[in-house]
Amino acid sequence: MIFHIEILRQKNIASDPYRQRMTVEATDPKMTVATLLKALNADPELKDDSGNRVDEIKWECSCLQKKCGACAMRINGKPRLACDVKLGEFKKGEIVLEPLRKFPVIADLIVDRSVMLDNLKAITLWLEKEANHTKKGEDIAYEASRCLQCGCCLEVCPNYLSGDSFFSAAAFVPAARILSELPKKEQAQIIGNYKSHVYQGCGKSLSCRDICPAQIDIEQMLVNSNAVAVWKRYFK
Ligand code: SF4
Ligand code: SF4
Ligand code: FES
Repeated sequence: MIFHIEILRQKNIASDPYRQRMTVEATDPKMTVATLLKALNADPELKDDSGNRVDEIKWECSCLQKKCGACAMRINGKPRLACDVKLGEFKKGEIVLEPLRKFPVIADLIVDRSVMLDNLKAITLWLEKEANHTKKGEDIAYEASRCLQCGCCLEVCPNYLSGDSFFSAAAFVPAARILSELPKKEQAQIIGNYKSHVYQGCGKSLSCRDICPAQIDIEQMLVNSNAVAVWKRYFK
Protein backbone atom coordinates (compact mmCIF):
# COMPACT_ATOMS: atom_id res chain seq x y z
CA MET A 1 0.00 0.00 0.00
CA ILE A 2 1.17 3.55 -0.74
CA PHE A 3 1.48 5.92 2.23
CA HIS A 4 1.62 9.70 2.08
CA ILE A 5 3.58 10.84 5.11
CA GLU A 6 3.73 14.41 6.30
CA ILE A 7 6.18 15.30 9.06
CA LEU A 8 6.36 18.60 10.93
CA ARG A 9 10.09 19.15 11.02
CA GLN A 10 12.37 21.56 12.84
CA LYS A 11 16.16 21.47 12.57
CA ASN A 12 16.78 22.67 16.12
CA ILE A 13 15.19 24.56 18.99
CA ALA A 14 15.90 27.95 17.37
CA SER A 15 14.84 27.25 13.78
CA ASP A 16 11.45 27.59 12.11
CA PRO A 17 9.25 24.50 11.64
CA TYR A 18 8.34 23.30 8.15
CA ARG A 19 6.32 20.41 6.73
CA GLN A 20 7.87 17.73 4.57
CA ARG A 21 5.78 15.25 2.59
CA MET A 22 7.00 11.98 1.21
CA THR A 23 5.37 8.99 -0.47
CA VAL A 24 6.49 5.47 0.33
CA GLU A 25 5.26 1.94 -0.16
CA ALA A 26 4.84 -0.49 2.75
CA THR A 27 3.43 -3.96 2.44
CA ASP A 28 3.10 -5.09 6.07
CA PRO A 29 0.03 -3.59 7.82
CA LYS A 30 1.48 -4.73 11.16
CA MET A 31 4.47 -2.45 10.70
CA THR A 32 4.40 0.32 13.32
CA VAL A 33 5.03 4.03 12.85
CA ALA A 34 8.25 3.48 14.82
CA THR A 35 9.43 0.80 12.38
CA LEU A 36 8.43 3.02 9.48
CA LEU A 37 10.54 5.89 10.85
CA LYS A 38 13.50 3.53 11.22
CA ALA A 39 13.02 2.35 7.62
CA LEU A 40 12.82 5.93 6.31
CA ASN A 41 16.04 6.85 8.12
CA ALA A 42 17.76 3.74 6.77
CA ASP A 43 17.08 4.73 3.15
CA PRO A 44 19.95 6.91 1.85
CA GLU A 45 18.06 7.60 -1.40
CA LEU A 46 14.83 8.82 0.24
CA LYS A 47 13.40 11.92 -1.44
CA ASP A 48 10.39 14.04 -0.51
CA ASP A 49 7.49 14.75 -2.89
CA SER A 50 9.38 17.77 -4.26
CA GLY A 51 12.41 15.65 -5.10
CA ASN A 52 14.59 16.93 -2.23
CA ARG A 53 16.76 14.56 -0.24
CA VAL A 54 15.16 13.77 3.16
CA ASP A 55 17.59 14.43 6.03
CA GLU A 56 17.57 12.04 8.98
CA ILE A 57 14.25 12.36 10.82
CA LYS A 58 14.97 13.00 14.51
CA TRP A 59 12.75 11.06 16.91
CA GLU A 60 13.21 9.18 20.18
CA CYS A 61 12.75 5.54 21.05
CA SER A 62 14.15 3.00 23.42
CA CYS A 63 12.08 -0.11 24.23
CA LEU A 64 9.88 -0.31 21.08
CA GLN A 65 7.47 -2.25 23.33
CA LYS A 66 5.19 0.49 24.77
CA LYS A 67 7.15 0.43 28.01
CA CYS A 68 9.29 3.58 28.06
CA GLY A 69 7.16 6.42 26.64
CA ALA A 70 10.08 7.88 24.65
CA CYS A 71 8.38 7.66 21.23
CA ALA A 72 5.30 9.75 22.15
CA MET A 73 4.32 12.12 19.33
CA ARG A 74 1.19 13.43 17.62
CA ILE A 75 0.02 10.90 15.05
CA ASN A 76 -2.81 12.18 12.87
CA GLY A 77 -3.55 14.76 15.55
CA LYS A 78 -3.56 12.48 18.60
CA PRO A 79 -0.78 11.97 21.13
CA ARG A 80 0.28 8.33 20.84
CA LEU A 81 3.30 6.05 21.05
CA ALA A 82 4.88 5.47 17.63
CA CYS A 83 5.69 1.87 18.58
CA ASP A 84 2.01 1.26 19.39
CA VAL A 85 0.45 2.41 16.10
CA LYS A 86 0.27 0.01 13.18
CA LEU A 87 0.12 1.15 9.57
CA GLY A 88 -3.02 -0.96 9.03
CA GLU A 89 -4.93 1.77 10.92
CA PHE A 90 -4.39 4.29 8.14
CA LYS A 91 -6.97 3.08 5.65
CA LYS A 92 -6.57 6.18 3.45
CA GLY A 93 -2.77 5.96 3.56
CA GLU A 94 -2.39 9.45 5.06
CA ILE A 95 -0.04 9.77 8.05
CA VAL A 96 0.77 13.09 9.73
CA LEU A 97 3.53 13.07 12.37
CA GLU A 98 4.09 16.08 14.62
CA PRO A 99 5.94 16.65 17.89
CA LEU A 100 3.92 16.95 21.11
CA ARG A 101 2.77 20.57 21.32
CA LYS A 102 2.98 21.26 25.05
CA PHE A 103 6.76 20.86 25.25
CA PRO A 104 9.65 22.74 23.59
CA VAL A 105 10.81 21.08 20.37
CA ILE A 106 14.46 20.02 20.39
CA ALA A 107 14.49 18.71 16.79
CA ASP A 108 11.77 17.26 14.51
CA LEU A 109 9.72 14.86 16.70
CA ILE A 110 11.92 15.13 19.82
CA VAL A 111 10.63 17.36 22.60
CA ASP A 112 12.05 18.37 25.97
CA ARG A 113 9.82 16.75 28.61
CA SER A 114 12.03 17.60 31.59
CA VAL A 115 9.23 19.79 32.98
CA MET A 116 7.45 16.58 34.07
CA LEU A 117 10.34 15.56 36.32
CA ASP A 118 10.65 19.14 37.60
CA ASN A 119 6.95 19.02 38.50
CA LEU A 120 7.36 15.78 40.45
CA LYS A 121 10.28 17.37 42.30
CA ALA A 122 8.15 20.44 43.07
CA ILE A 123 5.55 18.23 44.78
CA THR A 124 8.40 16.51 46.70
CA LEU A 125 7.05 13.28 45.28
CA TRP A 126 9.53 10.75 46.53
CA LEU A 127 10.04 8.29 49.38
CA GLU A 128 12.90 8.84 51.81
CA LYS A 129 12.40 5.54 53.60
CA GLU A 130 11.23 2.09 52.61
CA ALA A 131 7.72 1.99 51.16
CA ASN A 132 4.97 1.23 53.65
CA HIS A 133 2.96 -1.46 51.85
CA THR A 134 -0.64 -2.06 52.85
CA LYS A 135 -3.08 -4.42 51.22
CA LYS A 136 -5.37 -1.57 50.20
CA GLY A 137 -2.54 0.49 48.72
CA GLU A 138 -0.86 -2.27 46.74
CA ASP A 139 -3.23 -2.26 43.78
CA ILE A 140 -3.08 1.52 43.54
CA ALA A 141 0.71 1.52 43.79
CA TYR A 142 0.99 -1.08 41.03
CA GLU A 143 -1.44 0.71 38.72
CA ALA A 144 0.27 4.07 39.25
CA SER A 145 3.74 2.59 38.77
CA ARG A 146 2.85 1.79 35.15
CA CYS A 147 3.02 5.51 34.25
CA LEU A 148 5.56 6.04 31.45
CA GLN A 149 5.83 9.81 31.94
CA CYS A 150 5.18 10.01 28.21
CA GLY A 151 3.29 13.31 28.37
CA CYS A 152 0.27 12.23 26.28
CA CYS A 153 -2.11 13.17 29.11
CA LEU A 154 -0.64 16.69 29.32
CA GLU A 155 -1.13 17.07 25.58
CA VAL A 156 -4.92 16.65 25.82
CA CYS A 157 -5.48 18.32 29.21
CA PRO A 158 -7.39 21.59 28.67
CA ASN A 159 -6.06 22.95 31.97
CA TYR A 160 -2.37 22.13 31.51
CA LEU A 161 0.05 24.78 30.31
CA SER A 162 3.77 24.09 30.52
CA GLY A 163 5.37 26.21 33.23
CA ASP A 164 2.03 26.85 34.94
CA SER A 165 1.33 25.75 38.52
CA PHE A 166 -1.11 22.96 37.57
CA PHE A 167 0.70 19.66 36.91
CA SER A 168 -2.13 17.44 35.60
CA ALA A 169 -2.33 13.63 35.41
CA ALA A 170 1.42 13.07 34.96
CA ALA A 171 1.66 14.28 38.57
CA PHE A 172 -1.46 12.87 40.21
CA VAL A 173 -0.87 9.34 38.90
CA PRO A 174 2.58 9.05 40.57
CA ALA A 175 1.11 10.90 43.58
CA ALA A 176 -1.37 8.05 44.02
CA ARG A 177 1.55 5.64 44.39
CA ILE A 178 3.60 7.72 46.81
CA LEU A 179 0.55 8.55 48.94
CA SER A 180 -0.30 4.87 49.11
CA GLU A 181 3.21 4.01 50.32
CA LEU A 182 3.95 6.89 52.67
CA PRO A 183 2.97 6.58 56.35
CA LYS A 184 0.16 9.01 57.22
CA LYS A 185 2.21 11.16 59.57
CA GLU A 186 4.76 11.86 56.77
CA GLN A 187 2.24 12.94 54.14
CA ALA A 188 1.74 16.60 55.16
CA GLN A 189 4.26 18.22 52.78
CA ILE A 190 3.13 16.24 49.75
CA ILE A 191 -0.51 16.88 50.58
CA GLY A 192 0.04 20.66 50.71
CA ASN A 193 1.84 20.59 47.36
CA TYR A 194 -0.74 18.23 45.88
CA LYS A 195 -3.59 20.58 46.76
CA SER A 196 -1.98 23.59 45.11
CA HIS A 197 -0.49 21.83 42.06
CA VAL A 198 -3.17 19.22 41.30
CA TYR A 199 -6.43 19.46 43.18
CA GLN A 200 -6.98 23.19 42.68
CA GLY A 201 -6.30 23.13 38.94
CA CYS A 202 -8.00 19.93 37.80
CA GLY A 203 -11.40 20.44 36.18
CA LYS A 204 -12.04 16.66 36.25
CA SER A 205 -12.94 16.68 32.56
CA LEU A 206 -11.02 13.38 32.29
CA SER A 207 -9.79 14.03 28.75
CA CYS A 208 -6.60 12.41 30.06
CA ARG A 209 -8.43 9.15 30.85
CA ASP A 210 -8.91 7.80 27.35
CA ILE A 211 -5.62 8.89 25.83
CA CYS A 212 -3.21 7.15 28.24
CA PRO A 213 -1.21 4.62 26.15
CA ALA A 214 -0.52 2.57 29.29
CA GLN A 215 -4.30 2.39 29.84
CA ILE A 216 -3.87 3.36 33.46
CA ASP A 217 -7.15 3.75 35.34
CA ILE A 218 -6.59 7.49 35.59
CA GLU A 219 -10.01 8.22 37.11
CA GLN A 220 -9.29 5.79 39.94
CA MET A 221 -5.87 7.37 40.51
CA LEU A 222 -7.46 10.83 40.75
CA VAL A 223 -10.23 9.64 43.06
CA ASN A 224 -7.76 7.93 45.37
CA SER A 225 -5.22 10.76 45.46
CA ASN A 226 -7.98 13.25 46.23
CA ALA A 227 -9.44 10.90 48.84
CA VAL A 228 -6.17 10.78 50.76
CA ALA A 229 -4.87 14.31 50.16
CA VAL A 230 -8.09 16.30 50.34
CA TRP A 231 -10.83 14.26 51.98
CA LYS A 232 -8.59 12.44 54.50
CA ARG A 233 -9.90 9.02 53.62
CA TYR A 234 -8.08 5.78 53.08
CA PHE A 235 -7.58 4.32 49.64
CA LYS A 236 -10.62 2.61 48.21
S1 SF4 B 1 -0.61 8.91 33.00
FE1 SF4 B 1 -0.56 7.77 31.05
S2 SF4 B 1 -0.54 9.42 29.50
FE2 SF4 B 1 0.04 10.37 31.43
S3 SF4 B 1 2.28 10.35 31.49
FE3 SF4 B 1 1.56 8.48 32.55
S4 SF4 B 1 1.50 6.91 30.96
FE4 SF4 B 1 1.61 8.87 29.89
S1 SF4 C 1 -9.21 15.41 34.55
FE1 SF4 C 1 -9.21 17.02 32.95
S2 SF4 C 1 -8.25 18.83 33.96
FE2 SF4 C 1 -7.79 17.03 35.25
S3 SF4 C 1 -5.79 16.33 34.52
FE3 SF4 C 1 -7.32 15.14 33.36
S4 SF4 C 1 -7.67 16.33 31.47
FE4 SF4 C 1 -6.60 17.67 32.93
S1 FES D 1 9.95 3.16 22.19
FE1 FES D 1 9.43 2.79 24.30
S2 FES D 1 7.30 3.23 24.30
FE2 FES D 1 7.80 3.38 22.21
